[in-house]
Amino acid sequence: MIEFHVVNQQYEAEKPIIKHLSLTIEKGEFVVLIGPSGCGKTTLLKMMNGLIKPDSGEIRIKGKELKEWDPITLKRNIGYVIQQVGLFPHLSIEKNIVYALDIQKVSETVKKERARELIQLVGLAEDYLAKYPNELSGGQKQRVGIARALAADPEIILMDEPLGAVDQINRAVLQDEIIRIYQTLNKTIVFVTHDIEEAIKLGTKIVVMNQGEIVEVGSRDAIVFHSKSHFADDFIGNKGFLSYLNIVKIEQVVCPFDGINGNVSEKDMVFWVTTADPLIVGIRMCLENGVNHIGVRNAAGQVVGAFDLGCLSRLKF
Ligand SMILES: Nc1ncnc2c1ncn2[C@@H]1O[C@H](COP(=O)(O)OP(=O)(O)OP(=O)(O)O)[C@@H](O)[C@H]1O
Ligand SMILES: [Mg+2]
Repeated sequence: MIEFHVVNQQYEAEKPIIKHLSLTIEKGEFVVLIGPSGCGKTTLLKMMNGLIKPDSGEIRIKGKELKEWDPITLKRNIGYVIQQVGLFPHLSIEKNIVYALDIQKVSETVKKERARELIQLVGLAEDYLAKYPNELSGGQKQRVGIARALAADPEIILMDEPLGAVDQINRAVLQDEIIRIYQTLNKTIVFVTHDIEEAIKLGTKIVVMNQGEIVEVGSRDAIVFHSKSHFADDFIGNKGFLSYLNIVKIEQVVCPFDGINGNVSEKDMVFWVTTADPLIVGIRMCLENGVNHIGVRNAAGQVVGAFDLGCLSRLKF
């Protein structure tokens, strides 16, 4: 869907900003770019939709070289949520959302309908359509920014720290909404963040960058447990591991009673968790109560087996 082949980019600076970078993003992936401030994440994102041209190398979108694309068609194929939301202050929320449709010949009725659909999709009430950006909180603006990027129904959505200005609680809610949108609309998403927890939670593929280079690319499991570089190890580290324990569900490691060392049975279980609880809940319950095993029930309350402290060794990477 998006291919970078040995791309270099330098702006006017003396040192290169993006160095010999190659990356392939497949259709339907949720790719998270993470790395220290100034490492080139925004530059990379802007190169994906043609806002910044590479000095050398090749960028392909849907198999076609970027320079072959007509800029307007490209814009329709790629939604972009910029780093500082950037809503137009003089336009209503409705006009902001359907802004991308203005360059297409779309009737006012269709635009109105689309704005209504999208505001619901991002979890805001319809009466927000008549408001102006300065009447919205930071988190609400971020939601509108996401709705706007979806307006022309692009296949690819680029998001540059879309939740950077949102507090921890709203952030978790918005992350869940983004996952829901990703799963229902079946888009290809490239998402930039500074937050390791967010990267582990959202990404089907995580790209760790440093100083204009990709130091590591892999799944959540690979990045947390099998990183090949010191930089990624330090950068992701224990924080990444903790996030992992917070996100992976007990259903992935639950074991039949007779499969556990010590041959325990349902009757031995004093403490219980559910399959939907994250691993950290099970580990904590074991440690707090000084037991090695706890029982696991599914959402319907049926007993499905046990969780034990050796659970991580049963994860399949
Ligand atoms: N228009 C520009 N002209 C020259 N240099 C630039 C320009 N824009 C960015 N840079 C430089 O390119 C480097 C990468 O910038 P970029 O914005 O891609 O970083 P980033 O990883 O997105 O950082 P942050 O996490 O702070 O948003 C930085 O050193 C920055 O100073
Ligand atoms: Mg940036």
